[in-house]
Amino acid sequence: MCGIVGYIGSKQAQNILLEGLCKLEYRGYDSAGLAVYKEGRLDVEKREGPLSALEDRLKEHSLSGEMGIGHTRWATHGKPSDENSHPHLDREQQFAVAHNGIIENYLELKEELQEKGYTFQSETDSEVIAHLLADLYDGDLVSTVRKAVGRMDGAYALAIASVREPDKLVAVRLASPLIVGLGDGENFIASDIPAILEHTRDVYVLNDGEMAVLDRHGVELTTTDGEPVERDILHVTWDAATAEKGGYEHFMLKEIHEQPKAIRDTLAGRVKDGLVDLSQDLSFTEAELKRFDKIHFVACGTAYHAGLIGKSVVEKLTGIPVEVDVASEYRYRDPIITPSTLVVVVSQSGETADTLAALREAQQTGAKVVGITNVVGSSVAREADEVLMTWAGPEIAVASTKAYTTQLIAIYLLGLYLARILGTCSETELSDATQALVQLPEQVEKLLQDPVAIQRVAGEIAQHEDLFFIGRGLDHAVVMEGSLKLKEISYIHSDAYAAGELKHGTLALIEEGIPVIALATQKAVYEKMVSNIIEVKARGAYVLGLGLEGDTELGKSVDEVITIPDTRPLFTPILSVVPLQLLAYYTSTARGLNVDKPRNLAKSVTVE
Ligand code: F6R
Repeated sequence: MCGIVGYIGSKQAQNILLEGLCKLEYRGYDSAGLAVYKEGRLDVEKREGPLSALEDRLKEHSLSGEMGIGHTRWATHGKPSDENSHPHLDREQQFAVAHNGIIENYLELKEELQEKGYTFQSETDSEVIAHLLADLYDGDLVSTVRKAVGRMDGAYALAIASVREPDKLVAVRLASPLIVGLGDGENFIASDIPAILEHTRDVYVLNDGEMAVLDRHGVELTTTDGEPVERDILHVTWDAATAEKGGYEHFMLKEIHEQPKAIRDTLAGRVKDGLVDLSQDLSFTEAELKRFDKIHFVACGTAYHAGLIGKSVVEKLTGIPVEVDVASEYRYRDPIITPSTLVVVVSQSGETADTLAALREAQQTGAKVVGITNVVGSSVAREADEVLMTWAGPEIAVASTKAYTTQLIAIYLLGLYLARILGTCSETELSDATQALVQLPEQVEKLLQDPVAIQRVAGEIAQHEDLFFIGRGLDHAVVMEGSLKLKEISYIHSDAYAAGELKHGTLALIEEGIPVIALATQKAVYEKMVSNIIEVKARGAYVLGLGLEGDTELGKSVDEVITIPDTRPLFTPILSVVPLQLLAYYTSTARGLNVDKPRNLAKSVTVE
């Protein structure tokens, strides 16, 4: 996820572009850059670090000109650095490109261009586009862009400027968001509406496979094949703050709704011919993978809860014993780590102090460490022996949502890949499971469509100060995450129990009206779970039951029932956590709390 902007008009472009990037910093903030056209040249300034680093540089050396493009980056290919920042130029500095997305066939294109003598300045996939434009230029920028996108596979939103035709800007979209702002004697490109809202409220939203050619006075929309496109102008009525959150009231709700895309992005390129293939991500040889006789998942908070799911998943798929530890405990309990132990650290930020300390400790004892992280260039990404990225994009809300579900996806991919290499599952089992895995984004989309029952339950539980979550098997790990989510943003005390444990103490706390959230998605323990629900119901609890679509029994034992689409038992956590995230969200808003920035908490915990 990155942010791109473009301006063509009669004002100085630099500050308009900078202000636009400032509004898009939520899409990425590890580096930023501008390219501005003046008198036959494209002048570029770009800097690693937050937008303020670029602003400081521009105070010393400002860019003058009335047309330009800009970019704020969330690194994918290549670490955050000045060289890897956008915009990228070709060697003659004739074409400047700002790109959001991933060019999947960039290595092939890069090799082809290198053979023709093009030299590359960065490690990015995006730079290939600038050289490709230079190589294909046929005297007409628009037809050249069409030819270039015809060569590119993957996802892209592009803003393109050229000294060859400085009276226009070109925008192209495929599977990454892009809008065009319509001004008076000026026009704009942006990844998202907030970037242009100060200048215009009239926009075209581009669809996949469409492009826009902007000059000062107008905008022409076509498909990338050159067919004209008719589009109604969208007149934006949101205020600037709402627009920044994509029309959602809070970042958390926006991020919950981004999960289908985040999951798709995390799966992309990792399923080949119907089977999971992580050979591009992990450089372990087959022999190395076969040598691991023990796996440790180590993480904090929500990422630890993902690790708990990891234990069941990896043990079931591979038969390798797995331990899960909270990172702050791991190194003080003298875990038994040997050179044949694989340690998997899970961290959204990649900067959590306890998780990093555990990573270093494990490496010192000779273990290999795989880092599952969401931030390219983070400490975990740099220090782990191997990295499995989650592609959730920046997570702004303190309460983690899309990072968790993409961590689960990374864990499923790892489990299925190990099982394939170790031969612990048949090819049919693996391909059936992979088929179910790739259906999850669509199933999450379906789940998000109707939150009414969840809102109703949230209204009820917002009145209470204590409640319980119960579940068995994988549902137990999921209720731990549901309980944490609720606690951190609603300030309601809750505990998550393995449902069979209730009668060993907790049942004493169940009294008239106390809310109990009960998950019953695991077919193998379904009857036992229903018995546990009846136990709490008999003591007067108000029960929300969460079961699988088609379950006609659960409703008979609970006060309110919510269902999730059916999938393989191993994958239900991806679906069952979504209503729990929404429940926490709506309970917090019902209590009028600061959802995105709960008290006493920080997004990244960099102290022990
Ligand atoms: C809860 C939450 C935290 C983090 C934990 C680890 O919603 O976000 O529990 O999961 O602080 O953070 P990372 O994953 O950045 O290491």
